[in-house]
Amino acid sequence: MVSKNLVELRGLKVAFDGVQVLHGIDLDVGRGEAIGLVGESGCGKSVTWLAALGLLPGKATVSGSVRVDGQELIGGPRTVLEGVRGKRIAMIFQDPSSSLNPVLRVGRQITEALAIHRGLSGDAARAEALRLLDMVGIPDARRRFELFPHEFSGGQCQRVMIAMALAGEPDLLVADEPTTALDATIQAQILDLLIELRAETGMATIFISHDLGAVSQVCERACVMYAGRIVEQGTIEALFDNPRHPYTRGLFDAIPRLDGPRERLIPIQGTVPHPRDLPEGCAFSPRCSHAAVDCRSHRPDLDPLADGRLLACHHPVGQVLADTRRNAETRVMETVS
Ligand SMILES: Nc1ncnc2c1ncn2[C@@H]1O[C@H](COP(=O)(O)OP(=O)(O)OP(=O)(O)O)[C@@H](O)[C@H]1O
Ligand SMILES: [Mg+2]
Repeated sequence: MVSKNLVELRGLKVAFDGVQVLHGIDLDVGRGEAIGLVGESGCGKSVTWLAALGLLPGKATVSGSVRVDGQELIGGPRTVLEGVRGKRIAMIFQDPSSSLNPVLRVGRQITEALAIHRGLSGDAARAEALRLLDMVGIPDARRRFELFPHEFSGGQCQRVMIAMALAGEPDLLVADEPTTALDATIQAQILDLLIELRAETGMATIFISHDLGAVSQVCERACVMYAGRIVEQGTIEALFDNPRHPYTRGLFDAIPRLDGPRERLIPIQGTVPHPRDLPEGCAFSPRCSHAAVDCRSHRPDLDPLADGRLLACHHPVGQVLADTRRNAETRVMETVS
């Protein structure tokens, strides 16, 4: 049976040496959908997808469920995972230079990926590798095919990584901070490339980034993570126009806005807690100016709101849009009567 969603994470948990860093992630990725994952450093964005794809070191304990088209990856036979990784789901990493093999020519690295994922060899593999290099915007692909990674710039290495990720014709591309190591102009080009490739191939995208502006360009939906949990999830419009979690609001207040008046940027006070000493109740409560007694004793569940978003907060900020509308209607009725 073909399931509605391409990928479904349920209760995904990860611990390193007995210290839990991921506390049960639930996430559905629809076919062709682009979802952003945001949150400060250390909140579990990378670990979520490394765990899902079986890429964490042996000391990691992973539990929960990761289904791709209904097929379970966690605890299943290795063959299932190998059939998915790189083929159905490909991942590109923050630092391309550590992901490309420095002693292998770039063309060979792509043809090897094509051999593994699509069984191509010889001239067919070479032609397809050239097509992929061309597709990701590497000029003069025929000549550059024979070069080594150190002969490419950072941005070109990232393009090569994307070409390798595309080799398996994935249904989902997980791009983990794909532009962080690049300068602003090249960042913008790589973002455009990801948007174009998605439009061309119809693949779904998970876009992990600190850059909320980039997330809004690439994605329709986003998850805000804090201390190993999703604390708010919704459409880009809902999160940008009306963030309800004080943490989401804090992330926005800490970035410059291009529209509107110039305002002082307000960084979120304090730092992300170490997974070993998470506070009682809501993990964000020690840093939250809205926190009340209940926040420090009971952790809020991630529950749906009337506008369709998911939120884990006892005392949300922002507007309750449904209520605002109701109040407005009441006022109209009062005026009429
Ligand atoms: N191999 C590992 N061994 C031990 N702890 C790890 C390992 N990898 C990640 N962690 C811990 O797991 C938690 C989540 O890390 P993760 O890399 O997912 O953060 P992130 O949200 O991707 O941060 P960043 O934005 O810096 O990339 C952190 O506390 C981190 O220290
Ligand atoms: Mg990371």
